[in-house]
Amino acid sequence: MSDSRLAIVVLAAGQGTRMKSTTPKLLHEIAGVPLIGHVLATAGQLDAAYTVSVVRHERDQVQEVIHDHFPSSLIVDQDEVPGTGRAVEQAVAALPADFDGEVLVVSGDVPLLDADTLTALVAQHRASGASATLLSAELADATGYGRIVRTGDGMLDRIVEHKDATDSERAISEINAGVYVFGLAELRDQLARVTTANAQGEKYLTDVIGLLRRAGSDVAAVTVSEPWLIAGVNDRAQLSEAAAKLNALIVRGWQLAGVTIQDPATTWIDLKASLAEDVTLLPGTQIKGATSIARGATVGPDTTLVDCEIGENAMVKRTDATLSVIGAGASVGPFSYLRPNTVLDADGKIGTFVETKNSHIGPGSKVPHLSYIGDTEVGTGSNVGAGTITANYDGVNKHRTQVGSHVRTGSHNVFVAPVRIGDGAYTGAGTVVRKDVPAGSLAINVAPQRNMAGWVEQNRPGTDAATAAQTARAETAPEAGESGE
Ligand code: UD1
Ligand code: MG
Repeated sequence: MSDSRLAIVVLAAGQGTRMKSTTPKLLHEIAGVPLIGHVLATAGQLDAAYTVSVVRHERDQVQEVIHDHFPSSLIVDQDEVPGTGRAVEQAVAALPADFDGEVLVVSGDVPLLDADTLTALVAQHRASGASATLLSAELADATGYGRIVRTGDGMLDRIVEHKDATDSERAISEINAGVYVFGLAELRDQLARVTTANAQGEKYLTDVIGLLRRAGSDVAAVTVSEPWLIAGVNDRAQLSEAAAKLNALIVRGWQLAGVTIQDPATTWIDLKASLAEDVTLLPGTQIKGATSIARGATVGPDTTLVDCEIGENAMVKRTDATLSVIGAGASVGPFSYLRPNTVLDADGKIGTFVETKNSHIGPGSKVPHLSYIGDTEVGTGSNVGAGTITANYDGVNKHRTQVGSHVRTGSHNVFVAPVRIGDGAYTGAGTVVRKDVPAGSLAINVAPQRNMAGWVEQNRPGTDAATAAQTARAETAPEAGESGE
């Protein structure tokens, strides 16, 4: 049920300079979701009456992602005055005049926070009657965070930003998580008093806490027991730490759901992936996007799957696959490269050093070795010989190759598309298939082999090959002269 007295402000207007990136900070991803997407998903669970996202830097890109993850969020543009205080000031100005409740402020760069923690924060705030309640944490390394300054009797007094802090303030290990609940009226009043007189020349939201205390209001802090919950992402080191923590949680979740994951440290699973019981993931495996893996399948080692569907009991070893479907009991790899729109049906095989693209390989059909199969249809129970290339591109257009059912093609064939090989047909080794092969035919177009007797001894005298040939010829009867087959 919607909380009619709650408004959420999502801070997403900052520049993110410490990332040193052309991609806006909040669009960097962990577990396949942009940082801001995690925050919006959590905010959405609180079902507030209003959610306002504040944007400025790279606003169009950021706004698009906000729209994708939280279509009903209001978007407010921050003006040229910098700082989290200014962002919140402009967000609350956009709330309807008749709204009179609490304002929960969350940062777009604090991605691991969960809805339970936020719900508890709002409940605590409402129960205590304080004018502001913030989340804090004790950190072994508080570098970069705002520090919570308390009075001698332990009362929360103000927040000092790292850049403005004295050495003794920097020694404080209790930090501000950047997540707060405020009463709307007090917040509005105090934001109007915040100045930009500080090391960064910004209107700090954190100054509201000290101002409220000066005005005699109560301010409370709720300390999170697990500091990783409030980890902020300002640079790429923090990005990888947050990604690793989230991944560890995801891996553990799947392990408890019945998935064998041999090496959690080298297994990366995106949030949108889904895995069935009795799936096995071997070391060095990345399960990305909306990949789904059915019961009993084994994936890895050293495999990356992006938006793939893996059937029951399939085996996918040392493979890179994108937007591909692998049927039940099928086998892929080692060293296979499946490009988008590869479909391998049940019990089929795509083997070693095989690249496929936009191809459908039917039930039980096999492409076992060293091949490129593009824009191709293969029927049921066919075998494509080792070293086969589909010549699908004429330099201008792509053409399709159609291989029927129960076909046996020889090693080292080229299928020059468009071309069809009928059901039950065979092709000889080394055939360049330029014409359709009717059902049941054998196609061969290789020139007959000629053996030119004595060629090596005549043309490469004195080499090891010539000596070996001489020895061999001495031991066996000499062959007839030059001959055909
Ligand atoms: C902020 C807090 C700090 C806290 C830390 C927790 C302030 C002044 N400091 O510092 O006390 O310990 O978060 O992670 O609030 N943003 C805007 N508009 C702006 C500037 C920032 O919307 O003008 C947004 C950013 O996009 C970001 C969030 O506010 O999502 C926090 O900004 P950031 O610059 O990362 O602040 P920190 O230095 O991390
Ligand atoms: Mg930050």
